[in-house]
Amino acid sequence: MPTVKPAVPNFSSGPCAKRPGYSLACLPTNLLGRSHRSAKGKARLQKSIDDTKRLLGLPADYRLGIVPASDTGAFEMAMWSLLGPRPVDVFFWESFGEGWMNDLQKQLKLPNVRSFSAPYGELPDLTQANPAHDVVFTWNGTTSGVKVPNGDWISDQREGLTLCDATSAVFAMEIPWPKIDVATFSWQKVLGGEAAHGVIVLSPRAVARLQTHKPAWPMPKIFRLTKGGE
Ligand SMILES: Cc1ncc(COP(=O)(O)O)c(C=O)c1O
Repeated sequence: MPTVKPAVPNFSSGPCAKRPGYSLACLPTNLLGRSHRSAKGKARLQKSIDDTKRLLGLPADYRLGIVPASDTGAFEMAMWSLLGPRPVDVFFWESFGEGWMNDLQKQLKLPNVRSFSAPYGELPDLTQANPAHDVVFTWNGTTSGVKVPNGDWISDQREGLTLCDATSAVFAMEIPWPKIDVATFSWQKVLGGEAAHGVIVLSPRAVARLQTHKPAWPMPKIFRLTKGGE
């Protein structure tokens, strides 16, 4: 048994801590029951998008979207939409990263996947990332408590895209945005907010890939990030 214990034991995979002062009474209910497609619903989504971009300090040319199915939905729509044109290097060291590796190999069945793993408590050799490949990784491996130290191992001259599951990192850890082409997270994690919503962040290079690459597999409507090629 550890002798030193955290003062606030809400960590790891959740349930996650609410912010100090959280109360249901603070939630405005004036849009309760309104469609997310109504003018007011859309305006609320836009405010949330704009505020999130500002609070995270995203570069002005990065995009941010709110999507269905939590972090899982956001990360899977990124993989399904973007991967295929280049070999993929996947780094994982706990259960969620392993899940993405399984998606790549067993669901998407990508032919050129190199996987780098480490047991619980350790990190794989991140320097193996090939800048010509797409890279899939988790910033903070929630279930092992091991995070990448920084983004220095990601090349500024990379040709591939970096896809980062950052769900328990965004808002808790500094993210070097120029190193990240796709980041995903859910409100339920670091913010202790509602489940079911995912957030996806896209760099200009990720948007360019979306506009030029057509996935070889069928895309369910909720995964489609482009309309008419835009
Ligand atoms: C690293 C990581 N990825 C993905 C998930 C899944 O997140 P969600 O339940 O928001 O889909 C979690 C949840 O704990 C996580 O910690």
